[in-house]
Amino acid sequence: MDKVATSQVTGFTLNNAPVQVAARPGERLSQALRERLGARDVKIGCNAGDCGACTVLVDGAPVCACLMPVQQAAGRRVETLAGLAQGDPDALRLKESFQHHQAAQCGICTPGMMVSAVALLRAEPQPDVAQVQDALGGVLCRCTGYRKIIDAVVGAHAADTLQEAAQELGAPARRFDGKAKVEGRDLFGDDVAPEGALVARVIRSPYPHARFSFGDLSAFAARAGVEAVLTAADVKGLNAYGVIPGFIDQPVFAVDTVLFRGEAVACVVGDAETMLALDPADFPVSWEPLDALMTVPQALAEGAPLLHSDRPGNIMCGGFVACGDAEAALAAADVVVDGFYETSFVEHAYIEPEAGWAEVVEGRVVVQACTQATGMDRETLAQVLGIDRADIRILPTAVGGGFGSKIDVSVQPFLALAALRTGRAVRMCYTRVESMQSTTKRHPARIDIRVGAKADGTLAGLSFHGDFNTGSYASWGPTVANRVPVHASGPYFIRDYRAQSRAVHTHCPPSGAFRGFGVPQSAIAQETAFDVLADRLGMDPLEFRLKNALRDGQPTVCGQVFEQGVGIHACLEALKPAYQAAKRACAVFNAENDGVRRGVGVAGGWYGCGNTSLPNPSTFKAGLRPDGTLVLHQGAMDIGQGSNTVIVQIFARAFGVPVADVTVLGADTDITPDAGKTSASRQTFVSGNAARLTGEALRAHVLQLANASDGAEIILNDGHLHVRDADRVQHVDLSRLEADPEGYALKAVKTYDPPVAPMDGNGQGVPYAQFGYAAHLCVAEIDLKLGQVTPVSFTAAHDVGRAINPLLVEGQVQGGIAQGLGMALMEEFIPGRTENLHDYLIPTIGDVPPIETLILEIEDAHGPYGAKGLGEHVLIPTAPAIFNAVYNATGVRLMHAPATPARVRAALKEAGYA
Ligand code: FES
Ligand code: FES
Repeated sequence: MDKVATSQVTGFTLNNAPVQVAARPGERLSQALRERLGARDVKIGCNAGDCGACTVLVDGAPVCACLMPVQQAAGRRVETLAGLAQGDPDALRLKESFQHHQAAQCGICTPGMMVSAVALLRAEPQPDVAQVQDALGGVLCRCTGYRKIIDAVVGAHAADTLQEAAQELGAPARRFDGKAKVEGRDLFGDDVAPEGALVARVIRSPYPHARFSFGDLSAFAARAGVEAVLTAADVKGLNAYGVIPGFIDQPVFAVDTVLFRGEAVACVVGDAETMLALDPADFPVSWEPLDALMTVPQALAEGAPLLHSDRPGNIMCGGFVACGDAEAALAAADVVVDGFYETSFVEHAYIEPEAGWAEVVEGRVVVQACTQATGMDRETLAQVLGIDRADIRILPTAVGGGFGSKIDVSVQPFLALAALRTGRAVRMCYTRVESMQSTTKRHPARIDIRVGAKADGTLAGLSFHGDFNTGSYASWGPTVANRVPVHASGPYFIRDYRAQSRAVHTHCPPSGAFRGFGVPQSAIAQETAFDVLADRLGMDPLEFRLKNALRDGQPTVCGQVFEQGVGIHACLEALKPAYQAAKRACAVFNAENDGVRRGVGVAGGWYGCGNTSLPNPSTFKAGLRPDGTLVLHQGAMDIGQGSNTVIVQIFARAFGVPVADVTVLGADTDITPDAGKTSASRQTFVSGNAARLTGEALRAHVLQLANASDGAEIILNDGHLHVRDADRVQHVDLSRLEADPEGYALKAVKTYDPPVAPMDGNGQGVPYAQFGYAAHLCVAEIDLKLGQVTPVSFTAAHDVGRAINPLLVEGQVQGGIAQGLGMALMEEFIPGRTENLHDYLIPTIGDVPPIETLILEIEDAHGPYGAKGLGEHVLIPTAPAIFNAVYNATGVRLMHAPATPARVRAALKEAGYA
C-alpha cells in the first residue's frame, strides 16, 4: 500500500463492515478499494467510465468506482461482488445461474456484470431481456457475446431449481474454475502483486516515427521516490523479442529511433505514489519527428524509405499457394466476379489490460502476469535477460481475455529487468491507452479477388492477392502471410487457384495474432464475392455453396486430401431450415416496411488447427501419489475458452475415472510441462490429445500392475485404488511403490505433435492435421436513410468433430460472433485517434442479437475422441454473412470493413438509393 502524503480519512461501510481509508483528495474509489482496502474483486479495465468492470453498489445503486472520488463514499454503503457473493440472496442466485449458463468466460467483466445484475434483481426480481440489456448496458464483455449473460440474469429467479449437469466428456458441464469467477476470487494480472511492490511505468513515443535522445537520466533517477530508470543500455541479453525464429526484431527499448506511436524507450521504477503522479512529459527525452508511412500504398511506393534495411520494399514476407491454372480457368469461366476489399486495424480490446509483477527469488526471476504462452514467455525472457531459462519461472495469473495478443510479451521484459535491477518486487499494469497503443492488432488487409464459375454453378478459378499491414515489427505477421493463401479458397473444391499474400511494414503498431490470423479478412472477400457470383448465375447463394462445398476425398487447394471429417457440407445443410424461414420472414417484413429492409446472408468458413506446417507439440504429465491422489499437470493456458475444463474432461475419460477424482495443477513453468501457446484453436486438439495420451499411459500402468484387461474399470475411492475386471476386484496398494522425486508412485508424461508436413513452393503439402468448419446465417436490417446495419439474428452451424463440452462450444460461438459483428460494423483502430474504449467501439449488450448454435459432430481422425478446434472458426463467417445480408436486402455490395453507417450510406447512395 502506498504512502499518502496529503490524505483525508473517509469512512464508509464496505460489504457491511465499517472501514476508514486515508486517501488523496479526489482519489478514485476504485483505487482506494483495490489498493488500500484489498478489494481486488473490483476490476479496472479503462479507468475512464467506458467498460463498467469497476462497477460497485453505492447505497444500492450501481456506480463506476473509477469515476467516483472516494470521499464521495463518506458515510455510504459500498458493496462489491466479493461481499455480495457471501450472502446476498440475489447474488447467490446469480452465482448459480451464471455458472449454469456459462455466463462467465475469462471472468474479468463478471464482477461488474453481477453487481449490476444484483441492483436490477433487487428492483425487478424477474426482469425481461430488454430490462437486462438496459441495466447491464454499461458493462462491456469481450468474451461471451452477452447472450449467456442475459440468459443468466433472466433465469436467475429459477436458480434454486437448476441441476448441475454431469461433468464427463460430452456433457454440458459447468466450468471447473467457474466458482472463483462468480465470487470475485479469480486473480488477474494486476491482482497479485505483494503489498509494497515498486511500480514500473514505460516511457513511450508520442510519434509514429521519430529520432530521440535522452537528457540527464541520472538526475531523473535520483529524484525522490524513483528507484531506477531503465533503457536499452540496461538490457544484458538481446534487446529484441519476437515470436518467430528469423523475425526477432522488436526492441525491448528502442535505440535512437522509434517506428510506431507507443513504442517503449525507457522504463521508470519507483514507489507507487511517485509513479502514480509521474507525468511522462517530465521525462528527459527529446524527439525529432520524422515522416511516417502509415498505409500499405505509402510503404510500397517507389523509393519509400525502409523501416528495416534488410526487408526490401518494406515487404517482410509473403505466402503463396497455387494449384492448376487459375488464369486459364478464369478465362474459360462463364461468369467472373472481381473486387477490391479493405479491412481495418482491429483492437483485441480484452477488458483486462496487460499486467503482472516480478521478483527475484534465490537468484531466479519469477514473473507472474497474464499470458497465453508461458513457455514462449520464458524463452523470450531468457534471451532478453541473457540468463538460462532454468533461472526463470513464469507463473501465469488468470487471463482477462487474450484473443491472440497475449501470446506476445508485453509487461514481462520490463518487469523482469526492473526486478533484477532493484532486487525488489515490481508491478505494472498498462493503462488502457498504452495497451491499445502498444500491443498487437488484427492486420488491415487490401485484397484483390477474382473468382469464376461455370454456368452450372461449378467454381472455375480463383485468383487472390492480399497485402496486409503488418505494422512496424514482425510479431505474428509471417504466420498471417502464410496462413491466408491456404485458407483464401474457403472450404470449397477449387481445381484452379492462385493466392498470394504479403506482409508490409508501416509505422503502425505491430499487427499480430488475432482470432483467425488473417482468415477473417480473406473470408470477407471470398464469401461476399461468392454471393455476387451466385447472383449473376441466378443461383441461390446457399445452394451455390452446397454445390461447391469440399467433400471427403477431394483435395484442398494445397493438395491435401481428407478421407473423412470434412464438415462444411453438413454445416451448410444444417442452416437450410433457418435459411428458408428467414427468407420468408424477410419478404414479409420488406413488403410491410418502407425505409428499412431486411436481408438474409450466409457464409462458410474453415480453419486449420495449430501451426501451419510446423511442429506444434504439447506435453502433459499426470501421476498417482502413494495416497491415491490422481494429479494432472495442466499447462494449457485457459484465457476464458475453457481448457481448464475440457482438458480435464478428456484426461479423466482416458484414464477412466470421474472428473471429480482428478486434482489439477495449473500452468506454472516449474511444475507443468510445456503445453504450447493458447492460439490457433490448438488446445482442445493438440493439448487434448496430449492429455488423452497421458491418461491412457497412466491407465496402462495401473492395469499392468493389476494384471487386468484393457476394459477393466479403475475405481479411486477415498485414496484407495481398485481395479474391477469382470468379476474380480483388485486393490492396488500404491504405498508399496517407491515414490519418485516428485512424489508419484506412478507417472506418465506424453507429448502430442500433429502430423503435418512442409509445403512446397506452390504451397502444396500438409499444412494442418485437421480443419474445423462453420457456416453462419445472419438476418440483418438496414436503415436506408441512415446506413445503419442492425443484425437481427444469427444461426451458427459449427462442426466441432466431437463436442467435449457443448456448453463451452456455445460460449465460444456466441463470443466469436460478437467479435465478428464488431469487425464487420464498428471496430476501427486508428493510431492516435481511437486509443481508448470511448472512441474505439466494441459491441455492447444491446448490439448482439439472439444466436442459435447448431453443433455438428463430424469426427476427425486425429482429434481427441474426434474433437476439432473451435476458437478461431467462430468469427470467420460472421462478417461476410452480415455483408451478404445487406447485399440480399439492397443489392449493395459492402467492400470495406467496418461497414460504418457513413460507409454503408455512401454505398447505398452510389447504388441509387435516395
Ligand atoms: S474501469 Fe471503471 S469503467 Fe472501466
Ligand atoms: S467473460 Fe466478459 S470479458 Fe471475458
